[in-house]
Formats: sequence, C-alpha cells, structure tokens
Amino acid sequence: MLVSAKEMLEKAVAGHYAIGAFNLNNLEWTKSVLAAAQEANAPVIVQVSEGAGKYMAGFKNVADIVRNVMEYQNITVPVALHLDHGTYEGALKCIEAGFSSIMFDGSALPIEENLAKTKELAELCASKGISLEAEVGAIGGEEDGVVGMGECADPDECKKIADLGITMLAAGIGNIHGVYPEGWPGLRFDVLEAIKAKTGDMPLVLHGGSGIPDEMVQQAVRMGVAKVNVNTECQLVFAAATREYIEAGKDQKGKGFDPRKLLAPGAAAIKAKVLEKIYLFGSNDKA
Ligand code: 13P
Repeated sequence: MLVSAKEMLEKAVAGHYAIGAFNLNNLEWTKSVLAAAQEANAPVIVQVSEGAGKYMAGFKNVADIVRNVMEYQNITVPVALHLDHGTYEGALKCIEAGFSSIMFDGSALPIEENLAKTKELAELCASKGISLEAEVGAIGGEEDGVVGMGECADPDECKKIADLGITMLAAGIGNIHGVYPEGWPGLRFDVLEAIKAKTGDMPLVLHGGSGIPDEMVQQAVRMGVAKVNVNTECQLVFAAATREYIEAGKDQKGKGFDPRKLLAPGAAAIKAKVLEKIYLFGSNDKA
C-alpha cells in the first residue's frame, strides 16, 4: 500500500535523518529502488517528473507498476509515490491516478500566484490524505547548456508558503539539479539556518542531491533537511555499468544481447547507489 509522506517526514525531522526520494525512469529503476529500500529497512519516496511519467506511459501506469512491483517483491517498508516538480494540471492528474504525494512547483510563478495555487492544492491534498511539497525560489540546473551556480530562497517567502498547510518545502540553498559545475561554491548553510528559523518543524527538501559532497549533505540533514532528491547519480551509474558490459563485448557472447542480461548490471548499480544514499541519509532501519 502506498502511504502519504507526512508521517515518515515528521519522524525524520524528529530523528535528524532524511528520507531518500529517488526518481524513477522505468521498470528497472522501480525494481531496484524498492529492493534497496526493503533491504535497508528504510521508508522511501519514489517519484516521477512529468516527463518521466510520459516516458512510462502515463501516471496511472506508473502507479500500477509501483504497486505491482511492491506486491511482487513483498515490499513492506513505507513507500510514498510522489510527483516531482508538478504543474497544477499534472498534480490533479496524479491525484486522480492514485499518487500518495504531490509536489506543486509554482516557483516560476509570481509569489502571490504560487501561494494561491499552493493553498488550493494543500486543501485538496489534505482532504484526501495526500502529502504536498511546495517550492519557492527556483532550483536551478542546466538551461540551454548553461549551468547556473544555484539560487537561494527568501526565508520570508518560505515562511508564507510553509503556513499554507503543506507537508514539506523545497527551498533553494545554492543546490542545483544535475552535475555540479566546476567552482560551485557549495550549499548555503547560512540561508538554510535562516529558513529553518522561520519554518520550525517543516520538513525541508534538498533537490539536486547528486554530486553534493557527503559531509555537506549530512550537515544539511542535521540542520533540518528531511527529504533528499536523487536522480542523476542513479542515471550515471546505470549508464556506466551498461557501457562496461557492452565495451567488454558481453552483449555479443551467447545470449548476452537479451535485455534481461544487458540491463542487469545497470539495475544492480542503481540498487547499490540507492543503498549507499539511504545509509548516508540515515534512514536505514527506520521503517
Ligand atoms: P539530481 O538529478 O541532481 O539528483 O536532482 C534530483 C532532483 O532534485 C529531482 O527533483
């Protein structure tokens, strides 16, 4: 059964650890992430962006795949199925499709509009027992080949949005999606401290979890980050393991071209990476 992320996040804040939120891309990802969470006895958030939802043939299919893999693999740890960086329309579709958690990313909207739409969704999600993540202060990444250095949210805006009845808040503290650029100055712990001071026990979300030095992630977790998003690192290890298999000529030996063999090293690499992150975030044995 899929659960809202609310309880696991509240426990994480109280226990000073973070829940890993891993982006899914296909069946291999789903099987590997869930197997790792079960093995580590860790609550977990599995999430799809709207683009990944399309790639996986729709949100309903994503929800069905996650539920069916959970049943097939005997997954007993708490699992929340979350929409990552949703639009307003995407959020409604995922609620309809049976997601147990939603992110509405109104960070590109004028703040008043972001607040109004977030409030509306907070009420809807609360009435259905679904957790809601909101965002203020856009989290950068690569745009048109240019990678920004990471933006910071305004702590007063964080307070305003945190008071709308949301479950968790994504706020930029210099983090960005994808591979960090050369010379990236690191997370802004001063900004994190200011946001935490204004938002109290609100679970904070660190996007762009790939490639941040481990000590920085742990420091952020100690300071109130309760959900860490990871996507790119799983993609990189999957690609590297698949490349190694092909470069070793294994796809040309016997039935090595069978996708069940060809994709196995990549799937194992995702599982190993997810386990590593769960232990880094401290959510192991917290199910
Ligand atoms: P990375 O791809 O940098 O790990 O970021 C993931 C993320 O924040 C998804 O919202």
